Amino acid sequence: IKKIGVFTSGGDSPGMNSAIRSVVRTCAYLKIECVGIYRGYEGMIDGDFKPMDARSVNNIINKGGTILKSARCEEFRTPEGRKKAHEQLKKAKIDAFVVIGGNGSFAGALAFNEEFNFPIMGIPGTIDNDILGSSYTIGFDTAINTVVDVIDKIRDTASSHNRLFFVEVMGRDVGHIALNAGVGAGAEEILIPEQNLGLERLLDSLKRSKKSGKSSSIVIVAEGDKIGKNVFELKEYVEEHLPIYDVRVSVLGHMQRGGNPTCFDRVLASRMGVKAVESLLEGKSNYMVGIRDTKLILTPISEAIKAHTEVDKELIRVSDIMTT
Ligand code: F6P
Repeated sequence: IKKIGVFTSGGDSPGMNSAIRSVVRTCAYLKIECVGIYRGYEGMIDGDFKPMDARSVNNIINKGGTILKSARCEEFRTPEGRKKAHEQLKKAKIDAFVVIGGNGSFAGALAFNEEFNFPIMGIPGTIDNDILGSSYTIGFDTAINTVVDVIDKIRDTASSHNRLFFVEVMGRDVGHIALNAGVGAGAEEILIPEQNLGLERLLDSLKRSKKSGKSSSIVIVAEGDKIGKNVFELKEYVEEHLPIYDVRVSVLGHMQRGGNPTCFDRVLASRMGVKAVESLLEGKSNYMVGIRDTKLILTPISEAIKAHTEVDKELIRVSDIMTT
């Protein structure tokens, strides 16, 4: 392998820049060429490439977003799209790539490898923390810190007005952001897709909470929650069935994807970038770099995309105890 392409794909996450920097600098250190591929698979199909050296990634370790841009690309899902992408890579003499992204991006990389026997390596970058094979994905730590910071602020106003707030957080089909940020911010209830407690139980818990002397409450709702009502419908439902509460809603949205990465995400991304390039040069392919018990590990991408990581049952218990 003489030339490695690197790109970010799917939803961006804080720390992706730190990972790009690490891949580029590891290539420079090992004296192989590195090429930045812009706009993920879309840019690969268009041949939107730029050579990168150690200096092209100055001062980005601390920046949110991704300097290489990102996209969700429909065309790459088709064999024709992947063929075009392969031709562009061949033309640019790129002979392996590192994809920084989530499940969808990895599935695309795997299909590409199977069709063209092209060496690939994955780095998990998503705020959702939903990738099997890594206890942490790049961006998750920053996102939960952002959410905690915002909920602290919401709590100030909730408390001043004795209000109940439903706060919707991201996470796609999993509740990692909701559960971790919820425990960290001391939420009164946390609704996650992995555990549907039902509307009755929510009403009971809110009644109990009021009775126990709490004047304001924060309920974190994961966007993928299965309670059957979105945050606005939940507000209406509670107002109708429990008129003791003055209810407000806050949907945090894409602010959870932005911001300077935390030190944890920067270090994680730096470590994963080194491991990804070194693994490719050792002749490995079709793996995703992950972290487990502080050690970096490699998991076949085919395994990594099979299922979502489960939420921590012990943390659910802690949350239950803390909300008494
Ligand atoms: O996967 C990251 C994520 O932010 C999810 O939490 C969310 O469901 C989704 O992406 C939003 O996607 P988009 O930015 O395309 O609206």
